Amino acid sequence: MDSYQRTHSCGELNAAFAGRQVILNGWVFKLRNHGGVFFVNLRDRYGITQVIIDEKASPELQSTAAGLKFESCIAVCGTVRNRPADMVNPQMTTGDIEVVADRIVLLNGCATLPFMIDESETQAKEDLRLRYRFLDLRSGGMQKRIALRHQVTFAVREFLNGEGFYEIETPTFIKSTPEGARDFLVPSRIHKGKFYALPQSPQLYKQLLMVSGFDKYFQIARCYRDEDARGDRQPEFTQIDMEMSFVSAEDIYAMTERMMQHVFRKTMNIDLPIPFPRIAYADAMNLYGSDKPELRFDMKMQDFTESARGCSFSVFRTTAEEGGTVKLLVVPGAAEAYSRKKITELEETAKIYGAKGLAWMKMTEAGPEGGVSKFFESEAAALAGQYGAKPGDLLLFVADSHKVACTALGAVRSRLGKELNLIDPTRFAFCWINDFPLFEWNEEENKWDPAHHMFTMPKEKYLATMEQNPGEVIGDLYDLVCNGYELASGSIRIHDPEIQKRIFDIVGFSAEQAEEKFGFLLKAFRFGAPPHGGIAPGLDRLVMIMSGVDSIKDVIAFPKNNVMASPMDESPSVVDESQLRDLGLILAEKETGQ
Ligand code: AMO
Ligand code: AMP
Repeated sequence: MDSYQRTHSCGELNAAFAGRQVILNGWVFKLRNHGGVFFVNLRDRYGITQVIIDEKASPELQSTAAGLKFESCIAVCGTVRNRPADMVNPQMTTGDIEVVADRIVLLNGCATLPFMIDESETQAKEDLRLRYRFLDLRSGGMQKRIALRHQVTFAVREFLNGEGFYEIETPTFIKSTPEGARDFLVPSRIHKGKFYALPQSPQLYKQLLMVSGFDKYFQIARCYRDEDARGDRQPEFTQIDMEMSFVSAEDIYAMTERMMQHVFRKTMNIDLPIPFPRIAYADAMNLYGSDKPELRFDMKMQDFTESARGCSFSVFRTTAEEGGTVKLLVVPGAAEAYSRKKITELEETAKIYGAKGLAWMKMTEAGPEGGVSKFFESEAAALAGQYGAKPGDLLLFVADSHKVACTALGAVRSRLGKELNLIDPTRFAFCWINDFPLFEWNEEENKWDPAHHMFTMPKEKYLATMEQNPGEVIGDLYDLVCNGYELASGSIRIHDPEIQKRIFDIVGFSAEQAEEKFGFLLKAFRFGAPPHGGIAPGLDRLVMIMSGVDSIKDVIAFPKNNVMASPMDESPSVVDESQLRDLGLILAEKETGQ
């Protein structure tokens, strides 16, 4: 390799190198043949350099140049020269120069490409992109995002190391414990009939590390959840997992904010203002209809229930009288743009979230018009005064249970944010959501479920009486939200086995079950467990938001597709009978599918 090993990268050369003999290695990105003068744009990770094979080149070199194929890997030996003034390309970092080739070595040719490699994004269907992921990763967009991901990970390590955190690995073959999603299981060969689980997160292990005295832990941790992949979800993903001892939620907020600030400054040169605003869960639902509100635009929902109580529109009145909620969204200046047809489309969105309809009217100088306005003709003053509706505004309402009214109209709000271009794509709008309920009622199973996980501490004032009304208990837990995505979750944990036992009781976990599933944790809590808490931002989601894309697949080198398969290596795949035999497994049904 010695004689054609690169001396410089394809993003490095400029006018200062004119006259120098160089060797570049890279991929043939663009090819032009101008009547016997060949231009090759040679690309590597660092950039693109124009190579020229001119009339003076040997016939052998000319013929090599003529035979080059896109994306072949080549070495170019040549001399740097300044481009003629009219050929200078200020868009390219190497745009002042070109390399006049005197030798080209084909390191490896390239078969017929399934798609062209693009300077930004591959223009091909996702399945094809994933089948040829090694090529898709050559595109400019993917290269940039994978680089950003590395920089973010590095900045996280740099920050946490500086704060005195230890990076500690926890096992990936663990005991299967109920943690929310479905576990991936790994059969044991040695212990036939027994299974390891892949961790949904290192939750229990990081708590055990606190018991061991490692009071600031982090891990760039792979997590595995057997759930459907979608925009911001993958079955395997990465968390920036953290835990600290002797802290309050305030310490975790502050540390996370400084970490985000460090990461954004180091990788994007953006100064995030901190502290991030905090919104109680109940307020987030009331104002935005979501526990992950998009705050890059304002447009809050309002409560119309009181006004609905005495109104003549029976849907609203009955809802209010029966203890339901009527939510109102005033959409400034949208009356004209939203025809009946477009409002019907918004209604479809509301219906996905359980709404029975989407009532509307338009505010004019003469008062409300259209839709359900006939029931509110006498309310023009209240609509304008109390609810701030101005002429030209579109008013949208959902009447339903509190939850449905909020989430359905919240979904309409999100849709309008996009449709009306209310979102500034260059902004990063962070907020904390806190004061979550500790328990959620499970309608199907008629029982209380933990809203986050079973190890979250109730807020102190509920401690004495939490069994009386579990639905009212607020937990010491928090989510970090950015641009409408849940970026991180965390909580202050229970470190007292007695409190832990009471939580297990409320969620219907018997002492035997608790002992069987979490015995090791409960045991550890009897050995001087310190008070502790933590948080885990999703690394994939963080990089996705930073790079402005809306799928985490675009920031993962080798993701799974939406049916949890990898078209490239064709996993999951059938295994040999002998492998199954080794594991003591017999398949009950053979899947032939996909
Ligand atoms: P949680 O389950 O909320 O909390 O996960 C924390 C963060 O991890 C990311 N995340 C995901 N990213 C991609 N694909 C997925 N399937 C996926 N699931 C979660 C999200 C999410 O906010 N052990 C607790 C954390 C703690 O309490 O410290 C936990 O795992 O960004
Ligand atoms: P209807 O009286 O059923 O024709 O409904 C009149 C308008 O009210 C339509 O625009 C419906 O979409 C809307 N609507 C019906 N039920 C609800 C509801 N629960 N909340 C909000 N709007 C509703």
